Amino acid sequence: MNAGENGKPRLLVARKFPEPVEERITRLFEAELNRDDRIKSAEELIAEAAGKDAMMVTPTEKCTADLIGRLPDSIRIIATFSVGYDHIDVDAATARGIVVTNTPDVLTDATADIAMLLLLGAARGAGWGERMVRNATWGAWAPTHPLGKEVTGKRLGILGMGRIGRAVAKRARGFDMEIHYHNRARLDPEQEAGARFHPTVEELLAVSDFFSINCASTPETRGLINAERIALMPDGAILVNTARGDIVDDDAVIAALQSGKLAAAGLDVFRNEPNIDPRYRELDNTFLLPHLGSATVETRVAMGMRALDNLEAFFAGRQPGDQVNKR
Ligand code: 8YV
Repeated sequence: MNAGENGKPRLLVARKFPEPVEERITRLFEAELNRDDRIKSAEELIAEAAGKDAMMVTPTEKCTADLIGRLPDSIRIIATFSVGYDHIDVDAATARGIVVTNTPDVLTDATADIAMLLLLGAARGAGWGERMVRNATWGAWAPTHPLGKEVTGKRLGILGMGRIGRAVAKRARGFDMEIHYHNRARLDPEQEAGARFHPTVEELLAVSDFFSINCASTPETRGLINAERIALMPDGAILVNTARGDIVDDDAVIAALQSGKLAAAGLDVFRNEPNIDPRYRELDNTFLLPHLGSATVETRVAMGMRALDNLEAFFAGRQPGDQVNKR
């Protein structure tokens, strides 16, 4: 193993991480911390990878085929501090014999909480309500306006019934919502817990008063929620996205929000974050958050520890628990 002078593996640390995570990084690795948290360009990452054994990255580091192709041979593992790994060209890494790991499980609850916050916030007008209070445009109370939508008894369609989708279902049951879902494979009855399976996303959309996106961004799901599919939804449906912005077609979602086809949208993720399509900001029926899915102290520490568990296992000669390119 190409270990550092003091015998510890050498780790490229792309971003600043929570303190307990950085403390463990410096204990286990020879590493320079990114104290001012400046995002490194592809060229900087390639230059800094020289003589390193491993990289700890986040979704801000786009590990494209080009970047991976230009990494030094010494890099043997890329551990991402995220459950999603759409920012890493896993095939390119596999072709170079580089292990890729992610951080599942530990952010399930935090992300499902944000999905419920978005669902409720979009349904009840938390965005426009808050703006009215802040901007002092809160007029006299009136029986007929402004009004949101009730969630009780409504049908929630969940796209992607993995860990996070199931955690959203569990929370939504507490609000007496009826759970429907589409997933590549039907769940067993215990995991379904009464949720109704739809074999196609189109069938799911047709019954979804609320629609929560909880699948990964893959070539199959990119742009999936487009104008044709939105047209299948009940009029006045509400869209929630805590997965990835590129799963929806922004033009189609914005047109549907403008026409009222979609009554509202609660969005935590966008294409091209943080430079999102500005039309989302101008719409009153959007409830927008800046990618807060996993943003709690507890979860971000757990994500860092999980990434380090994977790195530690790898350098101890074991297969990391969260290796996404299984050998
Ligand atoms: C993280 C996420 O906040 O883990 C993921 O895939 O989308 C988020 O919850 C983000 O990726 C930063 O690690």
